[in-house]
Amino acid sequence: MRMIAVSNHKGGVGKTTTTINLGAGLARLDKKVLLVDLDPQAHLTYSFGIQAHDLEKTVFDLLMGKLDYNDVIIKKDGLSIIPSSLDLSGDYKKKLMSMDRREYLLKERLNSINGYDFVLFDCPPALGIFTLNALTTVKEIFIPLQTEFLALQGMSKLLKWVNIVQKKYNKDLQITGIIATRYNHRKRLNKEILEKVEKYFQDKLFHIRIRENIAIAEAPSFGQTIFEYSPHCNGAVDYLNLSKEVIEKGDKNVA
Ligand SMILES: Nc1ncnc2c1ncn2[C@@H]1O[C@H](COP(=O)(O)OP(=O)(O)OP(=O)(O)O)[C@@H](O)[C@H]1O
Ligand SMILES: [Mg+2]
Repeated sequence: MRMIAVSNHKGGVGKTTTTINLGAGLARLDKKVLLVDLDPQAHLTYSFGIQAHDLEKTVFDLLMGKLDYNDVIIKKDGLSIIPSSLDLSGDYKKKLMSMDRREYLLKERLNSINGYDFVLFDCPPALGIFTLNALTTVKEIFIPLQTEFLALQGMSKLLKWVNIVQKKYNKDLQITGIIATRYNHRKRLNKEILEKVEKYFQDKLFHIRIRENIAIAEAPSFGQTIFEYSPHCNGAVDYLNLSKEVIEKGDKNVA
């Protein structure tokens, strides 16, 4: 079982889109996939058409130890999903911060999980307690990068933080994938940025680029993954190919 945190503290770079559509792509390749929405914005949950504000059982109940993971899972489109609920007041964070061993709550709650090939965690755009819980639970981090101006800005902060988490909380943690998102090969700037990202991350960068694709942005408002919404569009092709590369690269790492 591979547990992967999809994380970047920069907002709007494609974390949620990638968690959903990489998860759906892996499921199309017959993998058993669990998606965990760790973001109090609940974008992943809403993107499946699940009304996060009405939910009674969410990732927060799991973290607080009120419910077992099996009781929180919702099944949809061949995927298992642990939803988040909207936290407008910031209460969840306050409650989490008051817990003992608060960095390890998720790890402890998912300790006995089995039956999945992949568990993907959609992290919020912050290096706070939710992301920290993901990073103590997983061995792998995927970082989506939007191939635009300032893509690498803030990256040294993220890498430093990952380094601290490795040393202090989880020695097995590794950045195993960088995903270039919203790529447009016709834009010179996108190409230049991608070259910089390639130089910086070398073989950690996946070969597959996720192209800019309007259907990807539209699918969530229909509560669908890209494979249901528009199965032949560039977005579906790219995320399926990325899923294949993720599997192949993982097999190589294990071999
Ligand atoms: N390949 C793409 N083509 C077109 N639009 C995209 C693509 N990928 C993501 N988007 C759009 O970009 C916006 C940001 O994407 P997304 O919500 O996945 O980012 P995020 O990193 O999860 O954001 P946040 O930091 O707020 O959690 C969304 O409106 C999404 O639909
Ligand atoms: Mg998001």
